[in-house]
Amino acid sequence: MKRLITASLAAALFCASPFAQAQDAPIIIKFSHVVAPDTPKGKGADRFKQLAEQYTDGKVKVEVYPNSQLYKDKEELEALQLGAVQMLAPSLSKFGPLGVREFEVFDLPYIFRSKEDLRKVTDGAVGKNLLDKLQPKGITGLAYWDNGFKIMSANRPMQTPDDFFGLKMRIQSSKVLESQMRALDAVPQMMAFSEVYQAMQTGVVDGSENTPSNMYTQQVYDVQKHATLSDHGYIGYAVIVNKKFWDELPADVRANLEKAMNEATLYANDIAQQENDAALLAMQATRKTTFHEMTDAERQQWIETLEPVHQEMASRIGQETIDAVYQALGR
Ligand code: LMR
Repeated sequence: MKRLITASLAAALFCASPFAQAQDAPIIIKFSHVVAPDTPKGKGADRFKQLAEQYTDGKVKVEVYPNSQLYKDKEELEALQLGAVQMLAPSLSKFGPLGVREFEVFDLPYIFRSKEDLRKVTDGAVGKNLLDKLQPKGITGLAYWDNGFKIMSANRPMQTPDDFFGLKMRIQSSKVLESQMRALDAVPQMMAFSEVYQAMQTGVVDGSENTPSNMYTQQVYDVQKHATLSDHGYIGYAVIVNKKFWDELPADVRANLEKAMNEATLYANDIAQQENDAALLAMQATRKTTFHEMTDAERQQWIETLEPVHQEMASRIGQETIDAVYQALGR
Protein backbone atom coordinates (compact mmCIF):
# COMPACT_ATOMS: atom_id res chain seq x y z
CA MET A 1 0.00 0.00 0.00
CA LYS A 2 2.75 2.38 1.07
CA ARG A 3 4.66 1.55 -2.06
CA LEU A 4 1.54 2.28 -4.10
CA ILE A 5 1.06 5.73 -2.52
CA THR A 6 4.72 6.58 -2.99
CA ALA A 7 4.52 5.54 -6.62
CA SER A 8 1.40 7.59 -7.32
CA LEU A 9 2.85 10.63 -5.52
CA ALA A 10 5.97 10.33 -7.60
CA ALA A 11 3.84 10.08 -10.71
CA ALA A 12 1.84 13.16 -9.69
CA LEU A 13 4.98 15.15 -9.01
CA PHE A 14 6.42 13.95 -12.27
CA CYS A 15 3.34 15.14 -14.14
CA ALA A 16 3.40 18.51 -12.31
CA SER A 17 6.60 19.48 -14.07
CA PRO A 18 5.87 21.18 -17.39
CA PHE A 19 8.90 19.44 -18.87
CA ALA A 20 7.87 15.97 -17.82
CA GLN A 21 4.70 15.24 -19.77
CA ALA A 22 6.25 14.14 -22.97
CA GLN A 23 9.63 12.94 -21.98
CA ASP A 24 10.92 12.52 -25.50
CA ALA A 25 9.53 15.76 -26.89
CA PRO A 26 12.10 18.55 -26.89
CA ILE A 27 11.70 21.61 -24.68
CA ILE A 28 10.87 24.50 -26.99
CA ILE A 29 12.41 27.94 -26.54
CA LYS A 30 10.73 30.55 -28.69
CA PHE A 31 13.25 33.38 -29.13
CA SER A 32 11.52 36.38 -30.63
CA HIS A 33 13.23 39.55 -31.82
CA VAL A 34 12.49 42.58 -33.96
CA VAL A 35 15.56 42.96 -36.19
CA ALA A 36 16.80 41.18 -39.31
CA PRO A 37 18.69 37.87 -39.03
CA ASP A 38 21.71 39.54 -40.61
CA THR A 39 22.46 41.85 -37.65
CA PRO A 40 24.54 41.44 -34.48
CA LYS A 41 21.45 40.40 -32.50
CA GLY A 42 20.06 38.19 -35.27
CA LYS A 43 23.37 36.38 -35.61
CA GLY A 44 23.72 36.07 -31.83
CA ALA A 45 20.28 34.49 -31.59
CA ASP A 46 21.07 32.03 -34.36
CA ARG A 47 24.37 31.11 -32.72
CA PHE A 48 22.60 30.55 -29.39
CA LYS A 49 20.12 28.25 -31.13
CA GLN A 50 22.88 26.19 -32.68
CA LEU A 51 24.89 25.87 -29.44
CA ALA A 52 21.86 25.27 -27.22
CA GLU A 53 20.61 22.42 -29.41
CA GLN A 54 24.10 20.96 -29.62
CA TYR A 55 24.92 21.14 -25.88
CA THR A 56 21.56 19.77 -24.76
CA ASP A 57 21.81 16.93 -27.23
CA GLY A 58 18.50 17.78 -28.82
CA LYS A 59 16.62 18.07 -25.50
CA VAL A 60 16.02 21.72 -26.33
CA LYS A 61 14.83 23.14 -29.61
CA VAL A 62 15.24 26.89 -30.09
CA GLU A 63 12.87 28.56 -32.55
CA VAL A 64 14.14 31.99 -33.55
CA TYR A 65 11.52 34.44 -34.86
CA PRO A 66 13.22 37.56 -36.32
CA ASN A 67 11.80 40.76 -37.85
CA SER A 68 8.87 41.20 -35.39
CA GLN A 69 7.33 38.13 -37.04
CA LEU A 70 5.66 37.16 -33.78
CA TYR A 71 5.53 40.38 -31.77
CA LYS A 72 6.46 44.04 -31.99
CA ASP A 73 8.51 45.79 -29.31
CA LYS A 74 5.93 46.30 -26.60
CA GLU A 75 3.99 43.12 -27.23
CA GLU A 76 7.06 40.92 -27.06
CA LEU A 77 7.73 41.91 -23.45
CA GLU A 78 4.14 41.15 -22.52
CA ALA A 79 4.34 37.84 -24.38
CA LEU A 80 7.47 36.92 -22.42
CA GLN A 81 5.82 37.68 -19.10
CA LEU A 82 2.80 35.60 -20.09
CA GLY A 83 5.03 32.74 -21.23
CA ALA A 84 3.91 32.88 -24.87
CA VAL A 85 7.60 33.18 -25.77
CA GLN A 86 10.51 32.16 -23.58
CA MET A 87 13.40 34.35 -24.71
CA LEU A 88 13.93 37.87 -26.05
CA ALA A 89 16.74 40.36 -26.46
CA PRO A 90 15.09 43.80 -26.33
CA SER A 91 17.13 46.91 -26.68
CA LEU A 92 18.10 48.38 -23.30
CA SER A 93 15.99 51.40 -24.24
CA LYS A 94 12.79 49.37 -24.02
CA PHE A 95 12.68 48.46 -20.34
CA GLY A 96 11.24 51.75 -19.08
CA PRO A 97 7.61 50.89 -19.93
CA LEU A 98 8.09 47.68 -17.93
CA GLY A 99 8.75 49.86 -14.89
CA VAL A 100 12.51 49.32 -14.77
CA ARG A 101 13.54 52.85 -15.59
CA GLU A 102 17.13 52.39 -14.42
CA PHE A 103 17.95 50.77 -17.77
CA GLU A 104 17.49 54.15 -19.43
CA VAL A 105 20.89 55.11 -18.02
CA PHE A 106 22.27 53.42 -21.15
CA ASP A 107 20.46 56.05 -23.25
CA LEU A 108 22.15 59.10 -21.73
CA PRO A 109 23.84 60.90 -24.60
CA TYR A 110 27.62 60.59 -24.75
CA ILE A 111 27.82 58.68 -21.46
CA PHE A 112 29.93 55.91 -23.03
CA ARG A 113 32.96 56.92 -25.04
CA SER A 114 33.87 53.40 -26.12
CA LYS A 115 32.95 49.76 -25.89
CA GLU A 116 35.52 49.45 -23.11
CA ASP A 117 33.45 51.95 -21.12
CA LEU A 118 30.42 49.85 -21.73
CA ARG A 119 32.03 46.62 -20.59
CA LYS A 120 32.93 48.24 -17.29
CA VAL A 121 29.22 48.67 -16.71
CA THR A 122 27.69 45.56 -18.26
CA ASP A 123 30.36 43.15 -16.95
CA GLY A 124 30.43 44.61 -13.46
CA ALA A 125 28.20 45.07 -10.43
CA VAL A 126 26.06 47.75 -12.10
CA GLY A 127 25.14 45.46 -14.98
CA LYS A 128 24.30 42.61 -12.63
CA ASN A 129 22.19 44.82 -10.35
CA LEU A 130 20.22 46.05 -13.32
CA LEU A 131 19.45 42.52 -14.50
CA ASP A 132 18.42 41.60 -10.94
CA LYS A 133 15.77 44.32 -11.05
CA LEU A 134 13.94 42.27 -13.68
CA GLN A 135 13.29 39.34 -11.33
CA PRO A 136 10.19 40.84 -9.65
CA LYS A 137 8.74 41.27 -13.15
CA GLY A 138 8.97 37.54 -13.73
CA ILE A 139 12.02 37.95 -15.95
CA THR A 140 15.57 36.61 -15.62
CA GLY A 141 18.37 38.52 -17.32
CA LEU A 142 21.02 36.27 -18.82
CA ALA A 143 23.43 38.48 -20.74
CA TYR A 144 24.19 41.78 -22.41
CA TRP A 145 24.70 41.81 -26.16
CA ASP A 146 26.19 44.68 -28.12
CA ASN A 147 24.88 46.38 -31.14
CA GLY A 148 26.82 49.63 -31.35
CA PHE A 149 26.87 53.40 -31.34
CA LYS A 150 24.07 55.34 -32.99
CA ILE A 151 24.08 57.71 -35.91
CA MET A 152 21.37 60.22 -36.82
CA SER A 153 19.51 60.22 -40.11
CA ALA A 154 17.00 62.55 -41.77
CA ASN A 155 16.25 64.17 -45.09
CA ARG A 156 18.31 67.22 -44.40
CA PRO A 157 21.88 67.63 -43.15
CA MET A 158 22.36 67.67 -39.37
CA GLN A 159 25.72 69.18 -38.62
CA THR A 160 24.94 71.29 -35.61
CA PRO A 161 22.18 70.92 -32.99
CA ASP A 162 20.32 73.82 -34.65
CA ASP A 163 19.72 71.63 -37.70
CA PHE A 164 17.30 69.45 -35.72
CA PHE A 165 14.79 72.22 -35.14
CA GLY A 166 11.28 70.84 -35.77
CA LEU A 167 12.42 67.49 -37.19
CA LYS A 168 10.08 64.62 -36.30
CA MET A 169 12.49 62.00 -35.02
CA ARG A 170 11.51 58.41 -34.32
CA ILE A 171 12.68 57.13 -30.95
CA GLN A 172 12.45 53.90 -28.99
CA SER A 173 10.25 53.80 -25.89
CA SER A 174 12.64 55.68 -23.60
CA LYS A 175 12.01 58.94 -21.78
CA VAL A 176 15.71 59.68 -21.92
CA LEU A 177 15.63 59.51 -25.71
CA GLU A 178 12.59 61.74 -25.67
CA SER A 179 14.45 64.27 -23.57
CA GLN A 180 17.48 63.99 -25.85
CA MET A 181 15.40 64.84 -28.94
CA ARG A 182 13.73 67.73 -27.13
CA ALA A 183 17.16 69.08 -26.15
CA LEU A 184 17.86 69.24 -29.90
CA ASP A 185 14.52 71.03 -30.48
CA ALA A 186 13.34 68.04 -32.48
CA VAL A 187 9.93 66.42 -32.06
CA PRO A 188 10.29 62.89 -30.64
CA GLN A 189 7.94 60.23 -32.02
CA MET A 190 7.90 56.94 -30.13
CA MET A 191 7.36 54.08 -32.55
CA ALA A 192 7.91 50.33 -32.87
CA PHE A 193 10.97 49.33 -34.86
CA SER A 194 8.90 47.48 -37.45
CA GLU A 195 7.05 50.67 -38.37
CA VAL A 196 10.03 52.93 -38.93
CA TYR A 197 10.72 52.38 -42.63
CA GLN A 198 7.15 53.07 -43.67
CA ALA A 199 6.94 56.08 -41.37
CA MET A 200 10.00 57.52 -43.10
CA GLN A 201 8.69 56.71 -46.53
CA THR A 202 5.35 58.41 -45.90
CA GLY A 203 6.79 61.37 -44.00
CA VAL A 204 5.19 60.44 -40.66
CA VAL A 205 8.71 60.94 -39.32
CA ASP A 206 11.59 62.91 -40.81
CA GLY A 207 14.39 60.92 -39.31
CA SER A 208 15.69 58.62 -36.65
CA GLU A 209 18.70 57.41 -34.72
CA ASN A 210 20.02 53.89 -34.94
CA THR A 211 23.07 51.79 -35.56
CA PRO A 212 24.38 51.28 -39.10
CA SER A 213 23.54 47.56 -38.98
CA ASN A 214 19.91 48.27 -38.12
CA MET A 215 19.68 51.02 -40.72
CA TYR A 216 21.26 48.96 -43.46
CA THR A 217 19.15 45.86 -42.90
CA GLN A 218 15.97 47.98 -42.89
CA GLN A 219 17.03 49.76 -46.14
CA VAL A 220 16.77 53.10 -44.39
CA TYR A 221 19.25 54.47 -46.95
CA ASP A 222 16.41 54.38 -49.50
CA VAL A 223 14.36 56.89 -47.52
CA GLN A 224 16.94 59.09 -45.78
CA LYS A 225 19.12 61.53 -47.70
CA HIS A 226 21.46 62.47 -44.85
CA ALA A 227 23.14 60.91 -41.86
CA THR A 228 25.60 62.17 -39.28
CA LEU A 229 28.17 59.86 -37.69
CA SER A 230 27.51 61.24 -34.26
CA ASP A 231 28.03 58.16 -32.04
CA HIS A 232 25.99 60.07 -29.49
CA GLY A 233 24.48 57.03 -27.84
CA TYR A 234 24.54 53.28 -27.66
CA ILE A 235 22.20 50.44 -28.59
CA GLY A 236 22.65 47.12 -26.87
CA TYR A 237 20.45 44.35 -25.57
CA ALA A 238 19.60 42.39 -22.47
CA VAL A 239 18.95 38.76 -23.30
CA ILE A 240 16.07 37.77 -21.05
CA VAL A 241 13.97 34.70 -20.30
CA ASN A 242 10.68 34.00 -18.59
CA LYS A 243 11.79 33.38 -14.99
CA LYS A 244 9.36 30.57 -14.21
CA PHE A 245 10.30 28.72 -17.38
CA TRP A 246 13.99 29.11 -16.60
CA ASP A 247 13.72 28.12 -12.94
CA GLU A 248 11.76 24.99 -13.78
CA LEU A 249 14.18 23.68 -16.37
CA PRO A 250 16.04 20.50 -15.38
CA ALA A 251 19.33 21.62 -13.81
CA ASP A 252 21.52 19.90 -16.40
CA VAL A 253 19.58 21.49 -19.26
CA ARG A 254 19.82 24.95 -17.67
CA ALA A 255 23.58 24.53 -17.17
CA ASN A 256 24.02 23.62 -20.83
CA LEU A 257 21.89 26.56 -21.91
CA GLU A 258 23.98 28.87 -19.74
CA LYS A 259 27.11 27.53 -21.43
CA ALA A 260 25.51 28.12 -24.85
CA MET A 261 24.48 31.64 -23.82
CA ASN A 262 27.99 32.50 -22.58
CA GLU A 263 29.50 31.43 -25.88
CA ALA A 264 26.81 33.11 -27.97
CA THR A 265 27.43 36.30 -25.99
CA LEU A 266 31.16 36.25 -26.72
CA TYR A 267 30.38 35.66 -30.38
CA ALA A 268 27.71 38.40 -30.63
CA ASN A 269 29.91 40.94 -28.89
CA ASP A 270 32.85 39.97 -31.01
CA ILE A 271 31.10 40.50 -34.36
CA ALA A 272 29.02 43.58 -33.48
CA GLN A 273 31.60 46.19 -34.42
CA GLN A 274 32.54 44.60 -37.72
CA GLU A 275 28.87 44.13 -38.61
CA ASN A 276 28.28 47.84 -38.07
CA ASP A 277 31.43 48.86 -39.95
CA ALA A 278 30.43 46.69 -42.91
CA ALA A 279 26.87 48.04 -42.85
CA LEU A 280 28.12 51.62 -42.93
CA LEU A 281 30.38 50.89 -45.88
CA ALA A 282 27.54 49.16 -47.70
CA MET A 283 25.23 52.16 -47.17
CA GLN A 284 27.94 54.56 -48.30
CA ALA A 285 28.36 52.46 -51.44
CA THR A 286 24.70 52.99 -52.38
CA ARG A 287 25.35 56.78 -52.56
CA LYS A 288 21.72 57.29 -51.65
CA THR A 289 22.53 58.78 -48.25
CA THR A 290 25.22 61.38 -47.64
CA PHE A 291 27.17 60.62 -44.46
CA HIS A 292 28.58 63.53 -42.53
CA GLU A 293 31.64 63.03 -40.32
CA MET A 294 31.63 65.45 -37.42
CA THR A 295 34.42 67.88 -36.74
CA ASP A 296 35.72 68.09 -33.17
CA ALA A 297 34.05 71.48 -32.79
CA GLU A 298 30.70 70.09 -33.93
CA ARG A 299 30.98 67.16 -31.55
CA GLN A 300 31.71 69.56 -28.70
CA GLN A 301 28.60 71.53 -29.60
CA TRP A 302 26.46 68.37 -29.56
CA ILE A 303 27.92 67.31 -26.21
CA GLU A 304 27.17 70.71 -24.68
CA THR A 305 23.62 70.73 -26.05
CA LEU A 306 22.88 67.22 -24.81
CA GLU A 307 24.56 67.39 -21.43
CA PRO A 308 21.53 68.84 -19.60
CA VAL A 309 19.66 65.60 -20.38
CA HIS A 310 21.77 63.84 -17.70
CA GLN A 311 20.55 66.24 -15.03
CA GLU A 312 17.01 66.38 -16.30
CA MET A 313 16.63 62.60 -16.32
CA ALA A 314 18.34 61.94 -12.97
CA SER A 315 15.07 61.68 -11.08
CA ARG A 316 13.66 59.24 -13.64
CA ILE A 317 16.68 56.93 -13.87
CA GLY A 318 17.72 57.40 -10.25
CA GLN A 319 20.78 59.39 -9.25
CA GLU A 320 22.19 56.28 -7.56
CA THR A 321 22.26 54.38 -10.84
CA ILE A 322 23.83 57.28 -12.70
CA ASP A 323 26.47 57.67 -9.97
CA ALA A 324 27.18 53.93 -10.03
CA VAL A 325 27.76 54.10 -13.77
CA TYR A 326 30.07 57.08 -13.44
CA GLN A 327 31.96 55.31 -10.70
CA ALA A 328 32.35 52.20 -12.84
CA LEU A 329 33.68 54.43 -15.62
CA GLY A 330 36.16 56.02 -13.23
CA ARG A 331 34.81 59.54 -13.72
C1 LMR B 1 15.10 49.99 -32.37
O1 LMR B 1 13.95 49.77 -31.98
O2 LMR B 1 15.45 51.03 -32.92
C2 LMR B 1 16.19 48.97 -32.19
O3 LMR B 1 16.71 49.08 -30.94
C3 LMR B 1 15.75 47.60 -32.50
C4 LMR B 1 16.74 46.60 -32.04
O4 LMR B 1 16.33 45.65 -31.40
O5 LMR B 1 17.93 46.77 -32.33
